[in-house]
Amino acid sequence: MTGRDLNRAALSVLLSISIVVGCRALALAAVPATAPANPAFVMPDQQREEALPKGDAARGEDIVNSSCSFCHSLTRGGGDSAGPALFGVVGRPVASIASYTYSGALKQHAAQTWTPRLLSDWLKAPSHFAPGTRMSLAGISDPGQRADIIAFLQTLHEQPSPTEHSP
Ligand code: HEC
Repeated sequence: MTGRDLNRAALSVLLSISIVVGCRALALAAVPATAPANPAFVMPDQQREEALPKGDAARGEDIVNSSCSFCHSLTRGGGDSAGPALFGVVGRPVASIASYTYSGALKQHAAQTWTPRLLSDWLKAPSHFAPGTRMSLAGISDPGQRADIIAFLQTLHEQPSPTEHSP
């Protein structure tokens, strides 16, 4: 290689670098950054939470029978035992069975309703949800298992009788 060749080689390297840099600058100028400096709308925490996984009621029934039915009745008209009756619990206000004596800890939540989300929070760690609760259950840490339990609890409600709506 002669010195001239070297110069040429250096020049072409320089040229290609400046082409790449120039193209990038051009592209950046042509396509403005779209993210606003201040997001105009911030999602409330509630909506930012992940959706609850979809549960399987049949699997949930097995878990409830082995982990909950010892302390809770599950059938229509079932009374209270160590814990309050769970028939119809989804959609029911928290700590609302008149015949059952709830702890003050759970009664603190009496303004809330047992939605699937609230049940999931409760079952994850009862003593964290309501410190001082009398429900001595360590908690169900697996979100999938909680979803299964809740799917089963959702089946424990009054079925409208077929004749109920006819004149
Ligand atoms: C060792 C007994 C025991 C076990 C096991 C148990 N619970 Fe409970 N549960 C209780 C008691 C006691 C309360 C009332 C808590 C209080 O007043 O602080 C309760 C309250 C509840 C409530 C609130 C009901 C209402 O009327 O507000 C729900 C829901 C519930 N339990 C679901 C479950 C589920 C689901 C399981 C199984 C995964 C389970 N529990 C396992 C004893 C138990």
